Amino acid sequence: MAASETGKVKLWGGRFQKSTDKSVDDFNSSIRFDQRMYKQDIRGSIAHARMLGHQGIIPKEDSEKIIKGLEEVRKDIDDGKIQFQVDAEDIHMNVESILTERIGEAGKRLHTGRSRNDQVALDLRMYLRDEVIELREMLLHTLHVFCHLAEEHVDTIMPGYTHLQKAQPVTLAHHLMAYFEMFLRDLGRLNDCFNRINVMPLGSGALAGTTYPLDRNMVAQELGFPVITRNSLDGVSDRDFVLELCSVLSTLMMHLSRFCEELILWNSNEFSFIEMDDGFSTGSSIMPQKKNPDVAELIRGKCGRVYGHLMGLLTTMKGLPLAYNKDMQEDKEPIFDSVDTVKLCLPVFCDMVSTMKVRKDKMLLGSKGGFTNATDAADYLVKKGLPFREAHSVIGQMVFYSIEHNKSLDELTMEEFKKFSTIIEDDIYNAISMETCVNDRKVVGGPAREVSLKAIQEAKEFVAEAVKGAQAIKH
Ligand code: ARG
Repeated sequence: MAASETGKVKLWGGRFQKSTDKSVDDFNSSIRFDQRMYKQDIRGSIAHARMLGHQGIIPKEDSEKIIKGLEEVRKDIDDGKIQFQVDAEDIHMNVESILTERIGEAGKRLHTGRSRNDQVALDLRMYLRDEVIELREMLLHTLHVFCHLAEEHVDTIMPGYTHLQKAQPVTLAHHLMAYFEMFLRDLGRLNDCFNRINVMPLGSGALAGTTYPLDRNMVAQELGFPVITRNSLDGVSDRDFVLELCSVLSTLMMHLSRFCEELILWNSNEFSFIEMDDGFSTGSSIMPQKKNPDVAELIRGKCGRVYGHLMGLLTTMKGLPLAYNKDMQEDKEPIFDSVDTVKLCLPVFCDMVSTMKVRKDKMLLGSKGGFTNATDAADYLVKKGLPFREAHSVIGQMVFYSIEHNKSLDELTMEEFKKFSTIIEDDIYNAISMETCVNDRKVVGGPAREVSLKAIQEAKEFVAEAVKGAQAIKH
């Protein structure tokens, strides 16, 4: 029978004549990274054992012994009393062999009607379910931070850009609420993904189900799964739920990264729209004057590893014939790292955003340059009866003239205005002021103060409700 170098017989050692090579023990083992699923593994085994006893598949006393034994193992792992064995390969076999060492015969009945293939699928689903609940909470906090900060800045006028060229004035509130929308969609995607994670695969066996009369719904109910998988081959070979979460997290990181990129630009001397708090900046070892936005850069940088994990896992899965293949053990490190990375980024991102100093004067000044009111000047002519295409051309010429004379549109004299169109009157100055440009954009979804405040109010109500809901799930 196969033993490892430590002399321990493998749980599956029956058909082997030789021991596993030491290098293979290390190579094959996933305990280093899958031990983080021990709580889920034990919870799943307890539900399985209870069901086996209930169905009379194993004696009731054995089922009870297993459950008690597993609870003690969990406590000892919690307390750091357990040293996992590399030659016991993974968390599933580590737990089973510790249990059997402690309770003897009964422990050997735990794996009846089960395979590690459906066990690992169960554990990973339970683990990711817990993580998604935490991620949702963090994202809700992010939404909270954004709508509250937006509320403070409904009058903070700044230039809006297209092609990174000044385009039309908006407000910081409007810009922040654009990110609110992105994070809200991320939350929606997390919820959708949660529903596809939340399916119970145990009973799929190695690939073809089992001959034992398992009550799969009983297990699902104990573990809080609303539904069970419908096909045993799919139950053990599906990793779509992992990929889906990787993809949701990639999109979320992309959103964080985009905003970080903007903050890095805004924090630069050229923009000077914000000043990052000292607590969220770092210095240079050589240049004494430097204060660098490292936190924002690092979040932008970490986006790469999360994208990488998505591509890595898609590639791992692409050629796998049904059903389980050992390749799939490679799903864990990428998804764990993706989840860890997002959980690391979100809180620091929120704190960085809430502590940054907004330089309203610089934003307003920035909005005034670059002829951001040119569209409004054209609209002014349209309101006086000119067709839009003609108005566009008149203002185009006016912009050209102003560039030549180093003036902004509102710095032109009435005499100069009249040269371009005689229908222009004194009211043009008010019509093309930054405040009018923003606050006349009252269309639903626009930046006008009253529209913006209404959107923020609705957002705040949504977040408050969702936070209540999230707390209800936890308790
Ligand atoms: N550690 C394995 C994994 O993560 C568990 C399943 C192993 N099954 C097997 N037949 N080798 O995928």
